[in-house]
Amino acid sequence: YGDPNQKIDYVFKVVLIGDSAVGKSQILARFARNEFSLDSKATIGVEFQTRTLVIEHKSVKAQIWDTAGQERAVTSAYYRGAVGAMLVYDISKRQTFDHIPRWLEELRGHADKNIVIILIGNKSDLENQRAVSTEDAKEFAQKEGLFFLETSALEATNVEVAFLTVLNEIF
Ligand code: GTP
Ligand code: MG
Repeated sequence: YGDPNQKIDYVFKVVLIGDSAVGKSQILARFARNEFSLDSKATIGVEFQTRTLVIEHKSVKAQIWDTAGQERAVTSAYYRGAVGAMLVYDISKRQTFDHIPRWLEELRGHADKNIVIILIGNKSDLENQRAVSTEDAKEFAQKEGLFFLETSALEATNVEVAFLTVLNEIF
């Protein structure tokens, strides 16, 4: 998870957005520290964590920003300078997917037009409570030109792949 003395070639800012409780903070905890907590508290304000990775022999510092899904008080400062965005819903909560077009609209209204966006259906471990089909999400992502993956922060499924997809595309 990164050598502190390493020289940094690039810093990429990536923002997490989506409804409250979809798992944004736990996706970040999994990626940045390989941790997961079931009694995660709702985020207040804005937080960020970093992890340095090597991509094509260059050290890339991923600076991942996380905020509260509830407040929707996200300002343009949150999106400023972001080169990647992860648009997260919960596969077991239909409403969180139905709100994705609004999040996308907000993102497109505030972020750079070249921002790389991935749609993420989190909590894929809750297959028996699934309320959003993979096909529906895939179709939406295709129509909107987004990458798409289903992840589980709990089981550490596809979290790494999701970040690498965005970072490689930025790179
Ligand atoms: P806000 O900060 O309010 O916007 O919410 P958030 O999107 O950051 O959600 P958070 O990461 O705090 O997770 C909310 C709840 O979902 C917590 O109880 C987590 O433990 C749980 N959770 C997160 N990811 C997963 C997952 O992949 N699977 C399951 N089963 N639960 C998860
Ligand atoms: Mg949070």
